[in-house]
Amino acid sequence: MTPGRPFRNVALIGFMGVGKSTIGALVASLLDFTLVDTDKVIEERTGRRVAEIFASEGEAAFRALEAGLVQELESAQGKVIATGGGLPMFPGNFESLQRHAYVTCLWASVDTIYQRVRYQSHRPLLHTADPTARIRELLTERSPIYRKADLLVGVDFRAPAESARLIVSAYRQVTTVRPVFHAVS
Ligand code: S3P
Repeated sequence: MTPGRPFRNVALIGFMGVGKSTIGALVASLLDFTLVDTDKVIEERTGRRVAEIFASEGEAAFRALEAGLVQELESAQGKVIATGGGLPMFPGNFESLQRHAYVTCLWASVDTIYQRVRYQSHRPLLHTADPTARIRELLTERSPIYRKADLLVGVDFRAPAESARLIVSAYRQVTTVRPVFHAVS
């Protein structure tokens, strides 16, 4: 943690299927913060599903929408920001989140991720013949950024409520102002 960083918000980053939205909602309720789910905001604003944006305008257009939203969130306060899995990879996005949020990465193994996403069809990046290989490849590519988070929470063997409690207690520790006692001689 960089000393003196203002943690006005909590940002959840991590791969597809790790539970950012579910855990984000629980964290928001425990802290009495508002949940901002970046995929949902983009879908509401454009009136299209993420997969439709990928299909009709391409991934670059979706990344531009994400980056615009990240900029807007710089002035946010009291938000839990559940990000799309690729959002922190776009240049500048991770650094932007770090300026105002306690960045927490939810981490899961390739197998867990695969088990969680295999029956879901709304993630265009996994529409491939060998999704496990794709997950492994993307995870390898993304892990250097994911690992720069302030907190890393493994979700393979944790229920969402337990992950949420962990995040809240870590967040409270870093945001609690402790009295400083000066020795007088
Ligand atoms: C993506 C993750 C998705 C969504 C889009 C791209 C990614 O969000 O933003 O399909 O690049 O990992 P979730 O992480 O919420 O599935």
